[in-house]
Amino acid sequence: MKILIIGDVMGRTGRLAVARHLPDLRRELSLDFVVVNGENAAHGFGITESICKDLYDAGADVITTGNHVWDQREIMNYIGGDDRLLRPLNYPEGTPGQGVGVFMTADDRRVMVVHAMGRLYMDPLDDPFKGVEAALRNHRLGGNAQSGNVDAVIVDFHGEASSEKMALAHMLDGRVSAVVGTHTHVPTADTQILPGGTAYQTDLGMTGDYDSVIGMQKEAATARFTTKLPQGRLEPAEGEATLCGLFLETDDATGLALRALPLRLGGRLTPAVPR
Ligand SMILES: [Fe+2]
Ligand SMILES: [Fe+2]
Repeated sequence: MKILIIGDVMGRTGRLAVARHLPDLRRELSLDFVVVNGENAAHGFGITESICKDLYDAGADVITTGNHVWDQREIMNYIGGDDRLLRPLNYPEGTPGQGVGVFMTADDRRVMVVHAMGRLYMDPLDDPFKGVEAALRNHRLGGNAQSGNVDAVIVDFHGEASSEKMALAHMLDGRVSAVVGTHTHVPTADTQILPGGTAYQTDLGMTGDYDSVIGMQKEAATARFTTKLPQGRLEPAEGEATLCGLFLETDDATGLALRALPLRLGGRLTPAVPR
């Protein structure tokens, strides 16, 4: 199966990059399934119903989020009615929405998406390691193998600390197709297939303008460090975005990764286009 996972879509320029490139990528890479992190899609802060619709129209199958999920208040009422929009699974019990789902591709293969958030330098949520284990309890990888009941499992681990993301990936190695990090807005160069067969990249990077401070206009964001005077609200940088993500090909028999390649397209970053 061929899967693309796209990192944090940042504001209007990020949404434009998805709209411009994703339909072509779906065709050119023969993608079966696309996951997009949309936590910053609404002017840097959260996501709305209409943005969800635009991302689905462009070719997203599932949208993950993160710590910014509730920034647009309307999403609290919307998320319960949209199974394809996930929030981290380790929010307290009773939080609207879901952190896990099993979704069908166009040819009836089953893709499980698991979305959790780290706790190091982040909000102190429930234990993500335990939460992911609980989510996987009744799902085993391997579509054609007798014991398996899902064809691919994608884990979006939204976190600040590279150590925490690596630790979760090793805990899951051999049991899921891929563990990818989101949230830092900078792509890491450690794309690999772990010894047990799980694809891994510590952070996908944002889909946003890299002439910025993690997607925000650089003047105001820099002033927050150089002065201790109150600054205005941060605004997303509006230059051309680099679409950042991970292309993954899984083995249909085992559900594990055969190929994992970084994607960087458009904007300022050195391009990387999977073939
Ligand atoms: Fe983000
Ligand atoms: Fe985040």
